[in-house]
Amino acid sequence: MNNDIERVLYSREDIHQVAQKLGKQLTTDYAGKNPLIICVLKGAILFTTDVMREMDIYADIDFINLSSYGNETISSGQVQLTKDLDADVTGRDVLVIEDIIDTGRTLKFLIDLLKGRDVNSVKVCTLLDKPAGRLVDIKADYIGFEVPNEFVVGYGLDYAERYRNLPYVGILKPEIYQH
Ligand code: PRP
Ligand code: MN
Ligand code: MG
Repeated sequence: MNNDIERVLYSREDIHQVAQKLGKQLTTDYAGKNPLIICVLKGAILFTTDVMREMDIYADIDFINLSSYGNETISSGQVQLTKDLDADVTGRDVLVIEDIIDTGRTLKFLIDLLKGRDVNSVKVCTLLDKPAGRLVDIKADYIGFEVPNEFVVGYGLDYAERYRNLPYVGILKPEIYQH
């Protein structure tokens, strides 16, 4: 699997440091608020567990599964809700954790859904932000790294469901997805 990677962008240590920094900030910002952390499956699994363990506050966690890429490197444009939240989010202070914001469609879909369910507040923490990919106007509140306009994998991010378990974020060799 490591052989398929052309270049490492963010090492496990880089990500650990950024999770610590964001977790500290979130501990301050959410003190006394008992936020509901929402992990956006599947990509955000690793980053969610890293950030939440750096948050020294009471918090609940829930999961939603949103998907729009399928097995392609380009978004289908259609966000599919394949698993909804269990929690009632009414009146809650919600903290969404994502692995990457690219076109922004997934995040827009989720924020509209949450606002429609009358949350008290919603903020977004993402490991990666790819502003060059943006097609809808949306921003994260907490950002780990700004990534160049390349297809990245690892640390939760997949290509055709693979590479999520890489402990770092990297760029695939082009021959892996160019047939
Ligand atoms: C990826 C990624 C984000 C979203 C970002 O999810 O994990 O959730 O796309 O792209 P966007 O800003 O263009 O919407 P994907 O649809 O691949 O599902 P997955 O998390 O299960 O891999
Ligand atoms: Mn995702
Ligand atoms: Mg994906």
